[in-house]
Amino acid sequence: MRKKVSLTQHLIETHRLHHNIPEELRLLLEVVARACKTISNAVGKGALGDILGTTQDVNVQGEVQKKLDVLSNQILLDSNEWGGYLGAMASEEMETIHPISNDYPKGKYLLLFDPLDGSTNIDVNVSIGTIFSVLKLPEHTGIPTESDFLQPGSRQIAAGYALYGPQTLLVLTTGHGVNGFTLDREMGSWVLTHREMRIPEDTAEYAINSSNARFWYPPVQRYVREMQTGAEGPLGKNFNMRWVGSMVTDLHRILNRGGTFMYPADTRNASSQQGRIRLLYEANPMAFIVEQAGGAATNGEKRLMEIVPHALHQRVPVFIGSQNEVARITLYHTQTSSSPTE
Ligand code: F6P
Repeated sequence: MRKKVSLTQHLIETHRLHHNIPEELRLLLEVVARACKTISNAVGKGALGDILGTTQDVNVQGEVQKKLDVLSNQILLDSNEWGGYLGAMASEEMETIHPISNDYPKGKYLLLFDPLDGSTNIDVNVSIGTIFSVLKLPEHTGIPTESDFLQPGSRQIAAGYALYGPQTLLVLTTGHGVNGFTLDREMGSWVLTHREMRIPEDTAEYAINSSNARFWYPPVQRYVREMQTGAEGPLGKNFNMRWVGSMVTDLHRILNRGGTFMYPADTRNASSQQGRIRLLYEANPMAFIVEQAGGAATNGEKRLMEIVPHALHQRVPVFIGSQNEVARITLYHTQTSSSPTE
């Protein structure tokens, strides 16, 4: 029987091979993973832990905050504050960045997270997740500012997500492939269970919120129509559709068996052409993971990870997943005048 490999062993061995995970980064990733364990525990308690339902507050995105959004955010902040490897953190749930307090030493990394992705699914016991991304703090002597975070996704040092489903999983990349770990609940440890995850280049499955179909632009209308005409249509095969409504969960399925995840801009946000997904907390980390697994990720025009962000909470249209289908929908955008812009 193959020996169990822990997250720590995997990170140390990856560093031996690629010299890309210095001790500070390993400690950072281990602490994030530990925080995800704590969140998983809270998620698992559900109504018994009094963590369902909403707070009275509205977040920076204009959404009513769920209790679990607030709790998960606090868990990630508290766990990562004191370690000495971070300069600052930024969260989808907080309007401004969170520089590390003067009580602690400062480090050279920046941590960004969506503490609880798919929050509309919290109260109905459907899988949800945490997404995170690590950047290097640009070299300067001052206190980190928002502009330090506005780096293209291609500069990410590491990215990952935790999926709180029937099992709790941690999926991680440090730029040399993608590996998945399952939480051994009895032992409290992450065990490497999904080695070198790869996304099939072709797929016959897609994920999109079709209730928005009347607002889509022509390239998306065309692509979805062609998939829906199945074997009789121009794509010559039947497609299946799945939409969980948690990006982590939909993309985890895609990472395992292929597919495309789409959240396009639409006529409701015509002036900004932005879509719904946040560039820094969701799109970039997922794009990094998906590309590392052999997939592709664009905004319909260019690689998501090449976009230079102009705001912390910027949103982008996203087309992520199996390479050949992402290439097709991206091509359709170049063939019409209504393609999204940054
Ligand atoms: O961006 C947050 C998010 O909850 C994603 O996790 C998810 O894919 C999407 O929004 C769900 O959108 P909708 O409410 O349109 O189904």
